[in-house]
Amino acid sequence: MTKRLYIETVGCQMNVLDSELLTAGLLEAGYELVDSPHHADTVLFNTCSVRQHAEDKVYSALGRLREWKERNPAMIVGVLGCMAQKDQGQIFRRASHVDLVVGPGQLSRLPSLLCAVAADGQPRLEVSLDRAGGGRGSVAESFAHFDPPRTARRRAVSQQAMVRIMFGCDKFCTYCIVPRVRGPEQSRTAAEIEQEVRHLADQGCLEVTLLGQTVNSYKDTSEGRTVRLADLLERLNAVAGLRRLKFVTNYPRHMTRELLEAVRDLPKVSPYLHVPAQSGSNAVLERMKRGYTVESYRAMMEQIRELLPGAAVTSDFIVGFCGETEADFQQTAELVRWGRFKNSFIFKYSPRPATKAFEIYPDDVPEEVKRRRNHELLAIQDAISLEDNQPYQNREVEILVEGPSKSARKQAAGGELVQLVGRTPCDRIVVLDGPRGLTGRLLRVIIDKVDAFTLYGRLPDGPPMA
Ligand code: 5AD
Ligand code: SF4
Repeated sequence: MTKRLYIETVGCQMNVLDSELLTAGLLEAGYELVDSPHHADTVLFNTCSVRQHAEDKVYSALGRLREWKERNPAMIVGVLGCMAQKDQGQIFRRASHVDLVVGPGQLSRLPSLLCAVAADGQPRLEVSLDRAGGGRGSVAESFAHFDPPRTARRRAVSQQAMVRIMFGCDKFCTYCIVPRVRGPEQSRTAAEIEQEVRHLADQGCLEVTLLGQTVNSYKDTSEGRTVRLADLLERLNAVAGLRRLKFVTNYPRHMTRELLEAVRDLPKVSPYLHVPAQSGSNAVLERMKRGYTVESYRAMMEQIRELLPGAAVTSDFIVGFCGETEADFQQTAELVRWGRFKNSFIFKYSPRPATKAFEIYPDDVPEEVKRRRNHELLAIQDAISLEDNQPYQNREVEILVEGPSKSARKQAAGGELVQLVGRTPCDRIVVLDGPRGLTGRLLRVIIDKVDAFTLYGRLPDGPPMA
């Protein structure tokens, strides 16, 4: 009998990749994918813990499923990923209809756990050790890496793939839950990564995005010498068939000249750098334990501008962190104006139990102040993003077409022209009208119009936009 799988993913690109790999494995094992939990006999949530809101979403989705599960007791409900590692057995107490809780370091066991639950109906909990639960070696071992062989079957666009090069994090920024739920920092070997990228390129993949929580602290010593991200990029740049290489997310303190020169000199590496600043106030950065000052962040930006003048730099900011005064916030606004980021992801601070900030600092910025600062910073950033996009008007850019836009996907299949979405090498989003069949192609398009978030283009032989 075919088993019907529904999977929902919340959170970052790591989670999107984990879900893609899990789904590919389950499809190989005979599952079929369905688009609603009500058509499924296995429902999985791959979860995120970085902010409270992401957790609330999953707990309400679980709540909505309770009655359905009572009527269909054979259905298996699983909670995977970061929230599973963080909340562990509490998930069964809050949602007693959950059958399976599997942390991000235990995902390779999912198929056998599903079989075990199906056989005896008993709930299963598989998580990794707590960070303080043993020596570094045993904790690291309990966060087993999950990078099974790739198939193109589960990727939205087979010409585009994410490849994990490291997992976990050792930075312990005081607000962040990631080091606890994703475990110690561990790099995959360069040989393994290169093999995976070659395999992807052989399958027709054109663009690879390398993933790591602090991707520029990548370090492999298995070959008797140290292979850093710059060396890895050089090796991957030589992979035949591959056209574009990107990497996220960078840690400011590990942004070396050598890495920037590699981005400048290697033709396939995109001039795109995501380097979260988090705040523009030294007092806040210190409480966040980010390990750098605003001055050193600015010096890093200056080096980027010197070596890669055309590069798109993006950032993350947290507003309303514990003790953030109006003056601190104004310094962040100043950094956003000065940095002229292509775009910034701006978050309101969300206290996370078991983090240092949660334990030692009161969450003392009122919600309405967080909201106001969030809007203010977004408005500053949006004005910059618009100015930054303006020079693209009437220019020709190269895009990799990622497929029909969200609204076009809702339309019935068929039809000749749909709204397509693609990306430039510097990660700008381009929409244009074209046949669905262009999905996965690298094309040159002419930009007719821009706004802060999007470039509107057309195929060179297409009619100009109104
Ligand atoms: N509250 C708000 N934002 C957070 N981030 C990480 N932890 C928190 C938190 N507790 C943000 C940071 C990080 C991004 C992925 O999420 O800006 O770079
Ligand atoms: Fe979290 Fe800091 Fe690690 Fe990024 S570097 S994952 S913000 S602890």
